[in-house]
Amino acid sequence: MDTKRISANLENAMSAQMNVEDLQSHVYLSYGIWAADQGYGGIANFLFRHAQEERDHAIKFMSYILNRGGKPKVEALPAPGEDPKNLTDCFNLVFKHEVDNTEKIYALVDMAMAEKDWASYNFLQWFVKEQIEEETLAMNLIDKLKIAGGDQATDESLFNLDKTLEKMPDDADLARDATAENP
Ligand SMILES: [Fe+2]
Ligand SMILES: [Fe+2]
Repeated sequence: MDTKRISANLENAMSAQMNVEDLQSHVYLSYGIWAADQGYGGIANFLFRHAQEERDHAIKFMSYILNRGGKPKVEALPAPGEDPKNLTDCFNLVFKHEVDNTEKIYALVDMAMAEKDWASYNFLQWFVKEQIEEETLAMNLIDKLKIAGGDQATDESLFNLDKTLEKMPDDADLARDATAENP
């Protein structure tokens, strides 16, 4: 009996996304190595943790496809690309990667909706929410660096920024969780 509960179309698209999330993990790993080499241990730590999160995302897609009776395929990954030129470039690139990834998630949501595959649609909503967090987190990085002085930041303010990012939580606050007491 055929127990497969996902279309070949969505199976392939979600498998591709599993590989995209893994590539994201490699990209953040490479940025973390760049930051560590530049002496920014706290920022490197933040990026390494983020690389791990992207790996978790890949595993979620893998598990979902398997759960629905499909079989994801591990593909060869392209190289992560050039090192960032400086911290501003690094944080801008993180933001750009997240926005690109959001677009990919939205395309999957479109597919699930067109097929009326509500199980996949439901699964993907977790990623819609996750991408709000990830984009907010990336915006926070850009803001923090701007406040620290951007490319003209002093060594002292960069030292403090580096320390802050070492301890920065991996999840950004979401509007849906805000209250009047805790805006
Ligand atoms: Fe991700
Ligand atoms: Fe991400």
